[in-house]
This record gives sequence, C-alpha cells and structure tokens, in this order.
Amino acid sequence: MIKITDITKTYGSGDTAFQALKGVSFTIEDGEFIAIMGPSGSGKSTLMHMLGCLDTPTTGTYFLDDKDVSTLTDEELADIRRLHIGFVFQSFNLLPRTTVMRNVMLPLVYAGVAEAEREKRSKDALFSAGMTESHFSHMSNQLSGGQIQRVAIARALVNNPTLILADEPTGNLDTKTGEIVLGTFQKLNKEHGRTIILITHEHDVAEYAERIITLRDGVIVSDSKSHAQRYAKHYEI
Ligand SMILES: Nc1ncnc2c1ncn2[C@@H]1O[C@H](COP(=O)(O)OP(=O)(O)OP(=O)(O)O)[C@@H](O)[C@H]1O
Ligand SMILES: [Mg+2]
Repeated sequence: MIKITDITKTYGSGDTAFQALKGVSFTIEDGEFIAIMGPSGSGKSTLMHMLGCLDTPTTGTYFLDDKDVSTLTDEELADIRRLHIGFVFQSFNLLPRTTVMRNVMLPLVYAGVAEAEREKRSKDALFSAGMTESHFSHMSNQLSGGQIQRVAIARALVNNPTLILADEPTGNLDTKTGEIVLGTFQKLNKEHGRTIILITHEHDVAEYAERIITLRDGVIVSDSKSHAQRYAKHYEI
C-alpha cells in the first residue's frame, strides 16, 4: 500500500539548508499497525507529513496504492487526504464551545455530505473511538483529556479512511487514559482493518504496535517486529 524509496527532505536552502530526512525507505502493507520512534528532531513529523500527502519529498519516491504521489497536483493530493487519510495531531484542538457531534461532523460538512448521513457517520465514528452517546452533546471544554483525544480520533475516522496517521496521540495523557486511546487504535486495526501509523518517542507506547521503525538524525536505524507486543487492557471503554 505504501512504498517509499530513498526519501529525503531538505528545509531551506543555501547556508541555512537542513536535511531532516536523509534517504528513508520502507514498505507498509494494508492493515499494518506501525509505530515510528526516535528522539526529538529525528524527522518523525517530517516523515508523517510526507506520508499524509501534506508535503512532498525533496528527492525520492512515494507510492500510495500504486500511485506516484510526486506526480499528483495539489487538488489530487487534497482529494487523497480528504478521502483516504485520517489525521490525529498532538495539538489537534477541537473547536471550543462546540458540541462533540458538531466537531466530528465538520469534515463531512466540508465534503458536502447530506445532513442525515453526516449524523449517522459521526455517531458511528464516535462509537468506534469509544465515546458513549451521553457525551455527544457535551461541549468540547466539558471533556477529559482522554475524551478529547477520542473525539479527535473520531473526527479522523469520520471520512472512513484506510490510513490513520497519529502524531504523539498520547503525548499529553496519563498512563491509563493513554492506554484507552491505544486500545482504540488496536481495535480499529484488528477489527476494522485500518492501517495505523503512530508516532511516539516512548518505547512503552510503541509496543502497542506490531512493528517499530526507529529514526535517528533523518535515517532509519531499525525496523523490526515489536519484541514485547502489548495489548490494551481496556479494548473498549
Ligand atoms: N519547516 C521547517 N523548516 C526548517 N527546519 C525544520 C522545519 N520543520 C522541521 N525542521 C527541522 O527538521 C528536523 C526534524 O523535525 P521533525 O519535526 O520532523 O522532528 P520530530 O522527530 O518530529 O521531533 P519531535 O519529537 O520533537 O516532534 C528538526 O531538526 C527540525 O528543526
Ligand atoms: Mg514531531
């Protein structure tokens, strides 16, 4: 599904040029659950932006579902993001003073989906992210940190993406809430067959994935199966 070959990314030019990725290659099959690890500044978010078609590599190729991403126009890239990819950012803030339902429905409003369908799909996404109906009409400032993350996951799921990209989704959460969020990802992966790529700098978090790719200074230093695969205790909330 994903095949990147010798990807490099250089920010800036001339004296201030900085190469954040220095030749990265890997293949990811449909339905894999992968963690990308590495210290701060190693290029994790840069790589995720490439994978999410938010940015293009300086050199190298990226094939997504047999399409060469570097040949696509901005409109085609936007279509791929809208139709196939769900993003969960660490600082993925919900709209304040807006209900949970409305926050999740928003991407569908932009996609022009009819209202009844929007509501149904948003409810389904919220359920799969482990939210209970009693919270659907809460304002986003009336939620716990873990619930906010789950609503952000629901919002990433509402367009039914085949690929979910999450950058430090548990970064601000306590251990128990983090595990609930990781359980949501495991469920989406195992029961719904979504491909998940999760960025973290914590080993304990990475082990919820099946395969761990480690970056250092813009290169891959290891790519192997998770040695001590962990399963979330709370598969469902
Ligand atoms: N827009 C940019 N312009 C210039 N340099 C950048 C830009 N974005 C990132 N960088 C640099 O590229 C390197 C990799 O950044 P990146 O954000 O990918 O790291 P990261 O592994 O996600 O780190 P963290 O764990 O802190 O989030 C860093 O040295 C960073 O300063
Ligand atoms: Mg980052």
